[in-house]
Amino acid sequence: MTQFNEAQLTEAVVASFERTPDARTKFLLQELVKSLHDYVRKTNPTFDEWASAVDFLTRTGQKCTASRQEFILLSDVLGVSMLVDAVNHRERGGATETTVLGPFYVGEHKVMAHGTDISGTSVGEKMFVQGRVTDPAGAPVAGAAVDVWHADDEGFYDSQRPAYETEGPSLRTRFITDSDGRFFFRTILPCSYPIPTDGPVGEMILYAQRHPMRPAHVHFLVDAKGYEPLITHVFIGGDKYLDSDVVFGVKDELIAQVERRTDPVMPDGESVAAPWHLMTYEFRMKAGAGIAPKPLGATAAEAAE
Ligand code: BEZ
Ligand code: FE
Repeated sequence: MTQFNEAQLTEAVVASFERTPDARTKFLLQELVKSLHDYVRKTNPTFDEWASAVDFLTRTGQKCTASRQEFILLSDVLGVSMLVDAVNHRERGGATETTVLGPFYVGEHKVMAHGTDISGTSVGEKMFVQGRVTDPAGAPVAGAAVDVWHADDEGFYDSQRPAYETEGPSLRTRFITDSDGRFFFRTILPCSYPIPTDGPVGEMILYAQRHPMRPAHVHFLVDAKGYEPLITHVFIGGDKYLDSDVVFGVKDELIAQVERRTDPVMPDGESVAAPWHLMTYEFRMKAGAGIAPKPLGATAAEAAE
């Protein structure tokens, strides 16, 4: 029987993946083994610590449903999601910065007419959002699909509410840019909110005495033929959590100075009760041919759309 010392064990496990048919998969698996073994040699976990790590990962998996992704949340709070994002977007070449997709890109994004008020039953000060999608040279991108989603006035996404099953999406929609690359809609000014803390990831965050807050933001996923899908947020300038986002997702360029307005008319001429807020943002696409991630739990037919 072969007996391995600490170093030989790593070599043997790495070698056991040698016949993996796909070279990239083989590389990923072998490097994972090396990093995990290094971690164990460095930290000397006790059996109890190892068992609680297994229990933590088990509970993380058990918390996942079609509309809740506790593993993505784990990746987010460990900074892994932003690191994967960073290594995949090293050269932006003037294109808008990207950030985490987050676990709430779920369900349908139905196309709505420009100007629609997407706030439904949520209460709060009104916000008019006007955006424009351009190519790297600033020329308009017409016909781009702009998926929008944000939390309600209590800091919850529609998919976190029981009513999602029966009433469907709210504060979640899609606009198609016009011939000048523009889109606009009404909503409420979002607030900062905590990531879900009722699962193992929240437990870890609170145990480590980290706060669970994300600064106020609106999510955008812009998808247009001939361009890399752009997954980003626009953050509300002045939010107190901009410097300590629990998922490390803030980039300076993504902070918008949202104007507080007291005039009674929005940019499209409709009247509004003051005060209201105006968010203006230009999204610059990067040439490419990527495929946007589809909602978690999408059927094959939806994913192929
Ligand atoms: C979000 O902004 O929706 C989000 C992103 C990462 C973790 C939790 C929430
Ligand atoms: Fe969010």
